[in-house]
Amino acid sequence: METLFSGIQPSGIPTIGNYIGALKQFRDVQEDYDCFFCIVDQHAITVPQDRLKLRKQTRQLAAIYLASGIDPEKSTLFIQSEVPAHVQASWMLTTISSIGELERMTQFKDKAQKQTEGIPAGLLTYPPLMAADIVIYNTNIVPVGEDQKQHMELTRNLVERFNSRYNDILVKPEIRMPKVGGRVMSLQDPTRKMSKSDDNQKNFISLLDEPRLAAKKIKSTVTDSDGIIKFDRENKPGISNLLSIYAGLTDKTIDELEAQYKDSNYGTFKGDLAEVVENFLTDFQEKYESFYNSEELDDILDLGRDKAQKASFKTLKKMERAMGLGRKRK
Ligand code: TYM
Repeated sequence: METLFSGIQPSGIPTIGNYIGALKQFRDVQEDYDCFFCIVDQHAITVPQDRLKLRKQTRQLAAIYLASGIDPEKSTLFIQSEVPAHVQASWMLTTISSIGELERMTQFKDKAQKQTEGIPAGLLTYPPLMAADIVIYNTNIVPVGEDQKQHMELTRNLVERFNSRYNDILVKPEIRMPKVGGRVMSLQDPTRKMSKSDDNQKNFISLLDEPRLAAKKIKSTVTDSDGIIKFDRENKPGISNLLSIYAGLTDKTIDELEAQYKDSNYGTFKGDLAEVVENFLTDFQEKYESFYNSEELDDILDLGRDKAQKASFKTLKKMERAMGLGRKRK
């Protein structure tokens, strides 16, 4: 069976963008792959975090994974910082990364710009840590949203570089993006990505937003004034974004939605979507609450940590041996 890995940062509460772009895909792949789903808290600290908030968000994210349909009997759900192999392998991959290629990452440039007290070095070395997350499990498939494409390309380059300089040890992973909703946009500025760490609450809908408030956010999204409900990312970014969200939260395709709303106005369309979002969140949060408040959650994460430690050990050791680290017994 092939291996699949993906991670989410506990740097805020995941949004419906994270759900449609990533989490939603995870439930269905569990039958077909050996799956590892990670709460990447070491990635989150590449920008300053409040200690207590980070702890809470880490637990919330675990419950969100479970509410999204991750089955701990089938998949391994765990916290990155509880499995030391990630950082150990990351150091080795950092030594074969060049500063130039790391500086070229758009996410680094964006996040660096927002820092007021100097740029943390961890922001620059974020991609080799992400590559390490993936390679230590011999991952074949990585399901992510569009914004991770550049990091995935770098990961694949690092794998090639490592394999050609040392031994052919690492598996080169493939990226998998959703057909619809790979890039859900901000509600007030549909030319920017929806982000869980956005300062303006109106720009995103978090999975734990009060459902009626979320419905209101949908109704007050920024759209255009030509009144036609049609998918056209370039000329109609607001409506296209709402169509992606609608399709992402229901079984309907964009084509079907365009046909359904051919003769409707924006008010009706937004009203219906607001109801879809409200119902989705109500149902999701019911499942979430039962996981968040259960003792079972800690048992699941303990089990996940043990499984991940065991699974990552072999490749980590192979990498160390290939680079000449440590000793060989006489
Ligand atoms: P993060 O925490 O920013 O996002 C988690 C997942 O959600 C996707 N995503 C989106 N999809 C659609 N529309 C959006 N607006 C949107 N925003 C985010 C992301 O593409 C991602 O799939 N670097 C990663 C975490 C990570 C990782 C990994 C992922 C660390 N190591 C190894 C895969 C494999 C990140 O910051 O995701």
